[in-house]
Amino acid sequence: MSSTPLQDGAATGFRRMWRDLEVLGRDDDSGGYHRFAWTRTDSELREWFEGECAERGLDVTTDRVGNQWAWWGDPDAAVAAGDPGVVIGSHLDSVPDGGAFDGPLGVVGAFSALDQLRENGFQPSRPVGIVNFVDEEGSRFGVACAGSRVLTGALSPDRARSLTDRDGLSMAEALRRAGRDPRHLGRDEDTLGRIGTFVELHIEQGLHLVDLGRAVGVGSDIWPHGRWRFDVPGEANHAGTTRLADREDAMLGLAAAVIAARRSAESHGCVATVGKVNVVPGGVNAIASCATGWLDARGAEADSVLRVVAEVRDVIHEFDGLMTQESWTPTTDFDPALARRIATRLGGAPVIGTGAGHDAGILANDGVRTAMLFVRNPTGVSHSPDEWAAVDDCLAGVAALADVVSDLAGGGE
Ligand code: GLV
Ligand code: MN
Ligand code: MN
Repeated sequence: MSSTPLQDGAATGFRRMWRDLEVLGRDDDSGGYHRFAWTRTDSELREWFEGECAERGLDVTTDRVGNQWAWWGDPDAAVAAGDPGVVIGSHLDSVPDGGAFDGPLGVVGAFSALDQLRENGFQPSRPVGIVNFVDEEGSRFGVACAGSRVLTGALSPDRARSLTDRDGLSMAEALRRAGRDPRHLGRDEDTLGRIGTFVELHIEQGLHLVDLGRAVGVGSDIWPHGRWRFDVPGEANHAGTTRLADREDAMLGLAAAVIAARRSAESHGCVATVGKVNVVPGGVNAIASCATGWLDARGAEADSVLRVVAEVRDVIHEFDGLMTQESWTPTTDFDPALARRIATRLGGAPVIGTGAGHDAGILANDGVRTAMLFVRNPTGVSHSPDEWAAVDDCLAGVAALADVVSDLAGGGE
């Protein structure tokens, strides 16, 4: 069976929400988004979420770290009955100059799926929740999926509070400035207990669905991946008067590390990226006294990824530098029985893996029954203003999500 197409109201609502949201945090020159945790733009996004909930008569609660939740039905009564609810949603933050779809598609899609279910007269026998996870990209404080990691305890409250942004402002202080109490951070059993099943709708960040000629797919697994910071020391000096032989140039270690990452990734069948650097003092005519880079490494096999990291670390050590791990997410396998059930429900949708990280992966690794739905991305481009999906494919993804929720919240197992 394939999904019932979206009702007019749900489709119109999708387009309206998309228009309302697309102006928030957009750089009008590049067309990309700058939506970072606990900034003014983030609070506008959170207000947008609250407004959409209010339109649907849903109350919003925030958990200990600040993820936003809204429930159709009583999640605590369902917990008491031993049959917790079905949660859908994603995140609204972005990478620097990110695309419009990574995250928002899953949140807008969740509201539209709920609209579709209501238009169809669906009466859930389990409550249906909508979530907006905070700080999924880790663009400001460096650790991706910070909202779901704090929720599950994968990121300790002390470490989270002490993470700093580019200006040296701690997450604790950013939370205080946003009106939240950082002492509340920590694993949140009450919130986790309400999630019987989580389903995240997301744009595909690759080309599997294009190759397969399908608009919607189901997630099977996420590659193991992590982030490492490395600092290479140097000595500041004059660019014109310091002989090459006398230089301690931190940039050389940084450059060697970037090349090593590429070569090691190639030789171990992985991918590795240094997409962010910080050079001190940062003057065109000054030799660098310190160069910091962030390595993102991923691959199908955890051992291979860790071999890449070890080889890059060896190079950094040759330049007297230091490398520290900022995060590590092991292989994530989404519940295979659930993935099969969804794929069958969606008329034989393809089941595909991904190298991108998601809050769904953090929840799955914490033991939550979790699934992902992906929407075709014609170019595969993501984390860029060029990220795009056709509206018909997005609506097909929403229809699939509504169908999956009607199955999971509708009385069966
Ligand atoms: C998040 O999108 C990630 O894969 O880093
Ligand atoms: Mn992303
Ligand atoms: Mn995402």
